[in-house]
Amino acid sequence: MPRPFGLLAELTYACPLHCPYCSNPLDLGDYRRELSTSEWQRVLAEARQLGVLQLHLSGGEPLLRRDLVTIVHGASELGLYTNLITSGIGLSPERAEQLREAGLGHVQISLQADEAALSDRIAGARSFERKLAAARLVKELGWPLTLNVVLHRHNLDRVADVLDLARELEADRVELANTQYYGWAWRNRQALLPSREQLDRAEAVVRAARERWRGRMEIVYVLPDYYERYPKPCMGGWGRRQLTVAPNGDAFPCPAAQVLPLPRANVREHPLAWIWERSPLFQRFRGTDWMPEPCRSCARRELDFGGCRCQAFLLTGDAARTDPVCHLSPDHGLVIEAVRAADEGRRSLRVAPVPRPHPERRSRPAPPSGPPGGRRRGPGQRFDPQPPTPVDRPRREGV
Ligand code: SF4
Ligand code: FES
Repeated sequence: MPRPFGLLAELTYACPLHCPYCSNPLDLGDYRRELSTSEWQRVLAEARQLGVLQLHLSGGEPLLRRDLVTIVHGASELGLYTNLITSGIGLSPERAEQLREAGLGHVQISLQADEAALSDRIAGARSFERKLAAARLVKELGWPLTLNVVLHRHNLDRVADVLDLARELEADRVELANTQYYGWAWRNRQALLPSREQLDRAEAVVRAARERWRGRMEIVYVLPDYYERYPKPCMGGWGRRQLTVAPNGDAFPCPAAQVLPLPRANVREHPLAWIWERSPLFQRFRGTDWMPEPCRSCARRELDFGGCRCQAFLLTGDAARTDPVCHLSPDHGLVIEAVRAADEGRRSLRVAPVPRPHPERRSRPAPPSGPPGGRRRGPGQRFDPQPPTPVDRPRREGV
């Protein structure tokens, strides 16, 4: 039985931002009853016993949890290395000091762009200057700083400027991660998917920047799945190295697996060890026995584990199919088609204001398959369907 190495603790789905690629579930109805401080402390102790060494504190916005310092302190006492993944909003000097004293090991701050107008438009809230202030605070307090930048067609052409800003902020590491199409990003895929031309330009910029800042700033560039020949080994394989616990205690092998029609496993009902070792959810796609052809007889099956189950489900409606990103998949045409549409749309690309959703609009669950809903218009939406392509955004009320 493999042992988990990392736990992603999604402390809350509440967040002050409204990014159109948000990784939160589309329907937050199941997640309102958040785990208490003592429940998290028990889960972390169980995780440590299982072998977990790294704890990633995320959300939503984890700084919105009033007990964050207590949770970090408990994790440090258990010997867990703690990493805070935050928008930076809410990281006051006082809170930062408390977190440092509690033993927080590392901070990752998300950045939407290199300048305020675009950054705030993407985030759906005025936040850029506060993010910069938070990044400077992290360095002042002596933490290593990672900047997380989700790339898509509205900011990919500004990668050089983003990297300049990262240097100015003395980031130790920049993660440039092309959008993965789950959750809100799946719904807004049409608005977010870049063209191949944009990607080629961005890759050249990244190569040059790596040379220029070698030894001073690490630059991680995560290629977009849709433009690759083979899929990535998502999460290092299902139930192999990582697990996620959602705010309500649901445990998942990956942060996007809420969409899959599989039995739930909750830490309020079962010990984490049972969930990891014996729950039907974690066993469903573990290893290679579940694989269909062409994965079953493929030489790469232990390298990429058939790709991403969530991506297979969203694209085909069946989580047990080969990831359509793989050029050997019988469903690969679905990905080719999406890329072609993105390439054809390149002339309409411009850094444009992203329309806001109608205030009455409520989030609703995504359909399991079919084209992403960038142009799907539901009740209460008042988007102009013409370019710039509209996006749907998560709402946070009542979370
Ligand atoms: Fe990976 Fe399956 Fe494609 Fe082989 S056929 S490369 S195992 S996704
Ligand atoms: Fe769920 Fe890849 S995101 S398996």
